[in-house]
Amino acid sequence: MDALQIFRFLRDDIHTVVMATADGEGNPVTCAVDIMDADEGGLYFLTARGKSLYSRLKSRPQLSLTGIKGSSTLTSVAITVSGLCREAGEEELRTLLDKNRYMYEIYPTEASRAALAAFRIYRGRGEVFDLSKLPIERINFTFGGDASAEPAYFITESCTACGKCAEVCPQGCISFEGGRASIAQRHCLRCGNCMAACPCGAVVLKSI
Ligand SMILES: Cc1cc2nc3c(=O)[nH]c(=O)nc-3n(C[C@H](O)[C@H](O)[C@H](O)COP(=O)(O)O)c2cc1C
Repeated sequence: MDALQIFRFLRDDIHTVVMATADGEGNPVTCAVDIMDADEGGLYFLTARGKSLYSRLKSRPQLSLTGIKGSSTLTSVAITVSGLCREAGEEELRTLLDKNRYMYEIYPTEASRAALAAFRIYRGRGEVFDLSKLPIERINFTFGGDASAEPAYFITESCTACGKCAEVCPQGCISFEGGRASIAQRHCLRCGNCMAACPCGAVVLKSI
């Protein structure tokens, strides 16, 4: 799954996400927001210029959002995206309204729709966390030139293959090859049990 496929899943299969922004004092504020479009350039949503969400986004363009699809924890996949947004133009707004016709029921007249403004999340990073699979599956991705990295656990050459890490791994994602343990990053919960259990300090946390 690449970033565009993940964005399309957010738009088509999840659609409503919880978005976190920061207020004037830096305190977190969350609200429900619809992901109305997605393309190679990022994710699109809209809000009204009079809303506090609009003011927050204009003064601090950093946001984070999470959307979940599933009916219970063990049938759910969560997608989180964190990054930067900026206001898009009138053309993008028209496209969003065109693709999300239900907005005409909420803002029925042209005059009422004058309050609306489109935003694009154009750079950031994200994660798909799928608890419907066993072992769990996670995919980290970046888009729009973001270079930030995620911390993950790795096993170094100090490993003696004693097996203590594998004994405490809840997802069974540690295997042994060539006298050394290795972690299947795609299935790792990043709980840190392996690091705590390793008697030779062979497990390190480093950015990927
Ligand atoms: C299902 C659902 C979807 C929503 N989608 C949006 C949206 O796309 N844009 C928006 O501005 N508000 C949307 N809202 C309303 C906001 O969540 C609500 O206005 C927000 O809590 C107000 O935040 P504020 O007072 O901090 O601006 C949605 C609400 C619900 C229940």
